[in-house]
Amino acid sequence: MGFPANGASPENPNKFLIYGRTGWIGGLLGTLCQAQGIAFEYASGRLEDRASLEKDIAQVKPTHVFNAAGVTGRPNVDWCESHKVETIRTNVVGTLTLADVCRNHGLILLNYATGCIFEYDSGHPLGSGIGFKEHDTPNFTGSFYSKTKAMVEELLKNYDNVCTLRVRMPISSDLSNPRNFIAKITRYEKVVDIPNSMSILDELLPISIEMAKRNLTGIWNFTNPGVVSHNEILEMYREYVDPNFTWKNFTLEEQAKVIVAPRSNNELDATKLKTEFPELLSIKDSLVKYVFQPNQKVKA
Ligand SMILES: NC(=O)c1ccc[n+]([C@@H]2O[C@H](COP(=O)([O-])OP(=O)(O)OC[C@H]3O[C@@H](n4cnc5c(N)ncnc54)[C@H](OP(=O)(O)O)[C@@H]3O)[C@@H](O)[C@H]2O)c1
Repeated sequence: MGFPANGASPENPNKFLIYGRTGWIGGLLGTLCQAQGIAFEYASGRLEDRASLEKDIAQVKPTHVFNAAGVTGRPNVDWCESHKVETIRTNVVGTLTLADVCRNHGLILLNYATGCIFEYDSGHPLGSGIGFKEHDTPNFTGSFYSKTKAMVEELLKNYDNVCTLRVRMPISSDLSNPRNFIAKITRYEKVVDIPNSMSILDELLPISIEMAKRNLTGIWNFTNPGVVSHNEILEMYREYVDPNFTWKNFTLEEQAKVIVAPRSNNELDATKLKTEFPELLSIKDSLVKYVFQPNQKVKA
């Protein structure tokens, strides 16, 4: 019996095609595949260019496709408010095109989407522990970024080959990366203090690889169970990393004056993910194990 032509092997029969080579999540995914001995290639096509996606698939012959490509805005999502067509081109036209091409080829697409399409409401009040579930309809359209992501999620529901991963406020153990939520809030002059669901990438990205191996599809709240507030994270930062660290809080109303578009704050219910992966840690335990202990500078 010969080896498949795509570089996969009998021990590792999968071959992943990854969009987002130069991005944060895409970069981490490639490093993980390498460490796990999984055959993978980064895509070279642009999401909105259907022919380039067809070419990628013909060349790589993947078993699964991962989409970690998208525009999130630089320095932040406010960019999308003034670049609406560019945002639609990649996040709407591009993501839908990739899902459609994958479906035509019988390929599962793992799509790193966002959970920033919900905000606390009367049915899911802040502090209640009642989180939004996978079947809930998005209720946050305050920013153009979130509005278009919610529209795309709704359309992607019709694609049975898509696994939608609702990522939120991603955190990794690399505290020097400016995309990391902890790096962001330790550098801001002032921070709000609101409990939120968040995604610890060091724990969750390997889980997404396992989800591909299990051929899982549908919508998944891709966050660690529970919530953590900005101040709780900064207190942990002070405890583990910098005992002299101080910060200032401000209110949502004061925050609104320094940003263009409102930001979403919510709790997502991670029961579905926890049921599939019982070892999944709560957000606070995951922060300690995957982020603060590896970065510990203060003697215990
Ligand atoms: N970071 C967050 O806070 C966050 C939170 C929740 C969800 N997410 C979602 O997770 C995904 C990845 O996020 P990230 O933080 O890793 O983003 P990132 O660091 O900004 O990287 C985005 C990647 O997408 C690629 N890209 C952009 N437009 C493209 C296009 N039209 N065709 C092909 N590739 C394109 C970029 O490549 P080029 O440089 O070549 O354009 C880059 O490699 C995004 O969809 C984002 O919405 C992120």
